[in-house]
Amino acid sequence: MNKKNEWFKIGKYGLFIHFGLYSIAARHEWVQTLEEIPTEIYAQYKDYFNPDLLNPKEWANKAKEMGFKYVIITCRHHDGFSLWDTKYSEYNITNTPYKKDLLRELIDEFRNAGIHIGLYYSLLDWHRKDFLVDGYHPMRNNSKYIEKYPGNMDTYRQFIRHQVEELLTQYGKIDYLWFDFSYESRKWGKLVGKGPDDWGSEELEKLIYKLQPNILLNDRLGLNRGVQTPEQFARSKGMDNEDDLWETVQTLNNSWGYDRDNYNFKSSELVIKQLVDSVSKGGNFVINIGPDGRGKWDKRSVSILNEVGEWLKINGISIYGTSPSKYKAPVDCRYTQKGNKLYLHVFSWPYRTILLPELGGKISFARLLDDGSEIRFVDTKGLTDDRPSNTNLYKEITEVHVKESLDPTMVMLNLPIHQPNSYVTVIELTLKNK
Ligand code: GLC
Repeated sequence: MNKKNEWFKIGKYGLFIHFGLYSIAARHEWVQTLEEIPTEIYAQYKDYFNPDLLNPKEWANKAKEMGFKYVIITCRHHDGFSLWDTKYSEYNITNTPYKKDLLRELIDEFRNAGIHIGLYYSLLDWHRKDFLVDGYHPMRNNSKYIEKYPGNMDTYRQFIRHQVEELLTQYGKIDYLWFDFSYESRKWGKLVGKGPDDWGSEELEKLIYKLQPNILLNDRLGLNRGVQTPEQFARSKGMDNEDDLWETVQTLNNSWGYDRDNYNFKSSELVIKQLVDSVSKGGNFVINIGPDGRGKWDKRSVSILNEVGEWLKINGISIYGTSPSKYKAPVDCRYTQKGNKLYLHVFSWPYRTILLPELGGKISFARLLDDGSEIRFVDTKGLTDDRPSNTNLYKEITEVHVKESLDPTMVMLNLPIHQPNSYVTVIELTLKNK
């Protein structure tokens, strides 16, 4: 494993935090452009932005307790508002009633909590006048604005470089820089999308590695490299090259920013399954929280993330630091593996047995992670030699199963009829040393 990527490979579970002026609008982080709010009007949110209940230490400790190993904080979203004390733009948090450099507070506290630091930086900017209007821009239908501000991507590129330099020199070690996003093939009549040439991606990437050689970058600078970040869906299979990194980034309710009236939440069961599924394919799973305008985490999100955290407390050894397994998991199950421990994640509980292909003669012990209790199994190879006690079990089970279990390539697990109280039950299989 490449040293530089180690924390990412081991960590598996990341927290996205979307927080900015849109959090007080409370109707999606794209509100400015969804509602075509003129730039100057939207900018007024700045005068009311005061997350007085925000406690950075509490955020960090909560995240740690919930099992997150890294965080990705939106330090500047598409609205162009910076969450830090940047000298390159007045449109920043120190000019709100909150006044303080929130990004610094968050970085310090998350770092203290042992959580790796990722920063989300939007390449789009719906505030600056030199950002050439395109089809995503809130002023896209305002011909007067477009005429008046023809854009100047040279000065804009310079601005991005300055801000990125600031982020990478003033805040200590940043583990991950997460850019959003390139869309050069998009065309809206005369308006065209933007990509690596507009952002100056090549140059930017050089600058970043010069300033922080060990940093990870995601894939949205448009350079066809970096951590792959499928959004709201997972990859159907792992990467061909195991060293290539990927993570799926997901919302809890389809909105990244706080969205007060949106109750379209995923269940904790689904979130746990998505986490397991990604990890079983060699990827990471990043789930989002959109804190509200006063800096609180809403109860619905917290309760889901707490449940995932509880699950991780018991089953985390089957997630953190694991890799995909070469063995083929049975239907509705997923494998992860670490050394000679193979973790079987059962997505839907069967009646009494599960047949494991390819594992005949290979398992020395099986247990539930839930309570450490032994799971007895039938292994035609094991029957006659290492595990004679299995002969009793062999008599107990139905003839059909016996016949199937006689396939020497299979192992049959004998499960309790009642599933442990868990959305995904994990069975740890210890593989024999050959
Ligand atoms: C999208 C959206 C954005 C969100 C991001 C997270 O690109 O534009 O609002 O922050 O995805 O992946």
